[in-house]
Amino acid sequence: MRIGNEPQIDAPPARRPRRPGAGPLAACLVLLCAGCRDDMYAQPRYEAYEPSTFFADGTSSRPVVPGTVARGQLRADTAYYEGKVDGKDIEEFPFAIDEATLGEGRERFMIFCMPCHGQLGNGRGMVVRRGFSPPPDFHSEYLKKTPVGHIYNVITHGYGAMYSYEARIPVRQRWAIAAYIRALQYSQDASSEDLSPAEQKQLAEADRPGGPTQDDRKSLAEVQK
Ligand code: HEC
Repeated sequence: MRIGNEPQIDAPPARRPRRPGAGPLAACLVLLCAGCRDDMYAQPRYEAYEPSTFFADGTSSRPVVPGTVARGQLRADTAYYEGKVDGKDIEEFPFAIDEATLGEGRERFMIFCMPCHGQLGNGRGMVVRRGFSPPPDFHSEYLKKTPVGHIYNVITHGYGAMYSYEARIPVRQRWAIAAYIRALQYSQDASSEDLSPAEQKQLAEADRPGGPTQDDRKSLAEVQK
C-alpha cells in the first residue's frame, strides 16, 4: 500500500486507515436494540378527550369542580379587574398613576382610540371623517364627570357602536388609557391657578413681550430650587 505519492521501499506493511465512526456506530446499534421495548411509549393511558367506558358520562377527563379557580386567575380585586366596587363604577384609579403610566396610556390611546376619537379626544378622528358614526367629545361635561370605572368599562365591553377592546388591551393598559383620557380632558380645561407659584411666575414671564430675560431665568432657577 502506498501512502502519498512516494514509492515506499521496505516500508512496514501500512496500516489500513481506520474507518471513521465505526466504533460510535456500533455503540448506537447496541443502544438502539436495547431501546426496542416500547413499554414507556405505549402506556395504558388516555389521550385528551378520548372516550372511556370507565366513567358513566363516557369521557376519560373529569370536569372541573364548580367554582374552581386556576392559579393566578382569582381576580378578586373587582376595582382593578371590573372597575367596580359593589356594582358601582369606581371614581378613583385602583393604583397610583405616575408619569410612565400616563406615557403608556398616551401611546396606547394613539394606537387604539385616536383613529375615531381624534388626538384631542374631540371625536373627530380619521375613521369618523370617513363616515363612521361620531363618538362623543371627551370634553363634554358628562364625560368629564363620568367615573374612571365607566371609561374602563367602555374599553372592556364596548359601548353602542364602539366595539370591545377586552381581547386586545390588557387590564393595566386599559387603566393607563383611562388616565390619559383624564389628562386630555384636563389639558383643554386647566386654569393657571392650578400651577405651582413657581410655574405661575414662569408663565407670567414667558407671557411678557420679549419673553424672560437672563435675569428672570436666574431668579426662576432660584425659586425652583
Ligand atoms: C371605531 C371607532 C372607535 C374607536 C377605535 C374607539 N371608539 Fe370609543 N366610541 C366610539 C363611538 C362611535 C362611541 C359612541 C357610541 C354610542 O354612543 O353608540 C364611542 C364612545 C366612547 C366613550 C363614551 C361612552 C359614553 O358613556 O358615552 C368612551 C369613554 C370611549 N368611547 C372610549 C374609547 C377608548 C378609550 C378607545 C380606545 C381604547 C375607544 N373609545 C376607541 C367609537 C370608537
